[in-house]
Amino acid sequence: MDRVIIFDTTLRDGEQAAGGMLNIQEKLEIARQLEKLGVDVIEAGFPISSPGDFEAVKLIATEVRTPVICALARAHPNDIDRAWESVKHAERPRIHVFLSASDIHRVHQLKKSRREILQTSRDMVARAKTYTQDVEFSPMDASRTEPEYIYQILEAVIAAGATTVNIPDTVGYAIPHEFGTLIGGIFKNVSNIGQAVVSIHCHNDLGLAVANSLESLKQGARQVECTINGIGERAGNASLEEIVMAIKTREDLFQLTTNIDTRQIYRTSRLVSEVTGFPVQPNKAVVGANAFSHQSGIHQDGVIKMPITYEIMDPKDVGVPASSLVLGKLSGRHAFKERLAELGYSLSEDDFNRAFAAFKELADKKKRITHKDIESLIAEEKRTASETYHLDRVQVTCGDRGIPTAAVRLVGPDGKVLADAALGTGPVDAVYKAINRLVGVTNVLTEFTVKSVTEGIDAIGEVLIRVESDGITYTGRGADTDIIVASAKAYMNALNRLLAAKKAG
Ligand code: KIV
Ligand code: ZN
Repeated sequence: MDRVIIFDTTLRDGEQAAGGMLNIQEKLEIARQLEKLGVDVIEAGFPISSPGDFEAVKLIATEVRTPVICALARAHPNDIDRAWESVKHAERPRIHVFLSASDIHRVHQLKKSRREILQTSRDMVARAKTYTQDVEFSPMDASRTEPEYIYQILEAVIAAGATTVNIPDTVGYAIPHEFGTLIGGIFKNVSNIGQAVVSIHCHNDLGLAVANSLESLKQGARQVECTINGIGERAGNASLEEIVMAIKTREDLFQLTTNIDTRQIYRTSRLVSEVTGFPVQPNKAVVGANAFSHQSGIHQDGVIKMPITYEIMDPKDVGVPASSLVLGKLSGRHAFKERLAELGYSLSEDDFNRAFAAFKELADKKKRITHKDIESLIAEEKRTASETYHLDRVQVTCGDRGIPTAAVRLVGPDGKVLADAALGTGPVDAVYKAINRLVGVTNVLTEFTVKSVTEGIDAIGEVLIRVESDGITYTGRGADTDIIVASAKAYMNALNRLLAAKKAG
């Protein structure tokens, strides 16, 4: 069976999603998990776009050794040189050059002739090739480009040394049969196509990114570009977990394999959701909370008798933890450690000790601790590990007759303790105003949502907020059994991320 190369672009196209900005440590953590998942290529970023992105790609290239590490570059000499600087220490570096090919982009955006685009594509691939053997080229907006012109460009860039040619459906415009025909046409009409891997990169504007990708695999494409949870520019990219599980579940049809350790899918999905702040919709295929939960009596009856009646995938194959295993007040270090391992966490001794202390504290407030509580707890611990300001205490008074009032105490840089109080229109407003008086960073709150992690009155509440500062959106998350405390933690998380991003430039 042929193997499909899984090219993950969560850290590049995924990060382009509005509000998805990640810091360098978060990117490294995701890259390490992608390596565990078994992706073949990690597109780690777009180094010319900012010094922070450059540093992140460089760090990932140095630390993550198994997959190919790829850096994106426009078809400009400076971009390509910068991309190389960032990936040159990778075990297997790749430069990915792109240039728009469609008349729509050429006429309205680039104002260049077809001849110029062809020449630049060829020249820039040749430049990248002076640095590394592994060069990928993408004619952007390919699905809205005349196929004959795409054939011409591909032939030229392969002759110049491109080893992968990627066909992007940049605006998610294509329909499966049509996109498959384009890929099939490439195999028939590009004379040197045998010297390169054909890749696809599909966006989800019409909800067809996965369908278009699978159709292309049937036509012979052997690299698929995708992201965890399908995050990405606008409506996102093709979702890695859906493509991989479609190939595995319908092996009879595709006759293809991947290198992915599917049992790492759930953990990777949770991690990406935690750090980006993009929740996974409950009905999301493969990784949604309801993906393996059966509500109808007939279905439940069938699954009890024989899972295959209504389940086409075994939840264990994607690493979904068994929800029946519950911890409580009497569970010790050993049971907690085992549960963490089952959930795919491997913590350092210090992190484990902090997580265990937080678990014990939670167990005093909540009787049954499920895997969702543990995930929330570990995420909260991670968020507070690298803060500039730490929320030490928060206290509010409120009610239908009282004036909402909040007092907060923070521990700032160099351990300095800061305290203040404020009035607000409600308890959360009062808390945020009190924090603002201490931290003093101008921002606007653009989103605030609260949800409970599990059912029950003693459930952990998770707060997700987004704040905007200088046109950039920062996400913050906080979790606690008290939702006012969770709101305060989420705000601190967003402010700390904002401060770190400003510091990194
Ligand atoms: O969507 C797109 O066309 C891209 C390219 C850079 C491959 O992301
Ligand atoms: Zn894209």
